[in-house]
Amino acid sequence: MDGLETGRALHVAAVVIWIGGVAFVTLALLPVLGRGGADQDWFARFTAIERRFAWIARIALLVAGGSGFYMIVAMDGWDRFTMISYWWMHAMVVVWVIFALMLFVIEPLGLDRILETRANRNPGRTHALVSGAHWVLLVFSLIATFGAVAGSHGAFLS
Ligand code: HEM
Repeated sequence: MDGLETGRALHVAAVVIWIGGVAFVTLALLPVLGRGGADQDWFARFTAIERRFAWIARIALLVAGGSGFYMIVAMDGWDRFTMISYWWMHAMVVVWVIFALMLFVIEPLGLDRILETRANRNPGRTHALVSGAHWVLLVFSLIATFGAVAGSHGAFLS
């Protein structure tokens, strides 16, 4: 197993854990917390569970980014970013940057506190907002995953 193969295996394993977590939160956790109308303490229960996963997601994000960067260097693939047929390379980086900002900058700066205040005033609408944001992130992540698997096996090269 060479470096590139190891990098690819690490990359996919990290992506599975991280995007799998996003899918779980979007498709299972949030719908259960909103069932029958989000109650007054749904947000407290949500953050208790999500915070436990946030550290795992942060580590997975760093492993995915590090291994992805390593693969680009190993295959000298920088010119891909100048070609539209490699749109999925841009998609991966954009998804990564959005999550990195969320997990390393915006959340630590106090997003939870802002949402908590909102959730106390209006639990239902805050639940809809948080669910909608997770849906957008999940769909973007799946488009990037779909494009990356298909593209790295030769698709989109006309
Ligand atoms: C800074 C962020 C990232 C970089 C630099 C990066 C880079 C790469 C590179 C160089 C490859 C190999 C392409 C090839 O073999 O031709 C790859 C594959 C892949 N990446 Fe990323 N990636 C990043 C983030 C992501 C994210 C956020 C996702 C998922 C949402 C993702 C999912 C995948 C998948 C599924 C593969 C295909 C593995 C395969 O089927 O062989 N990557 N990535």
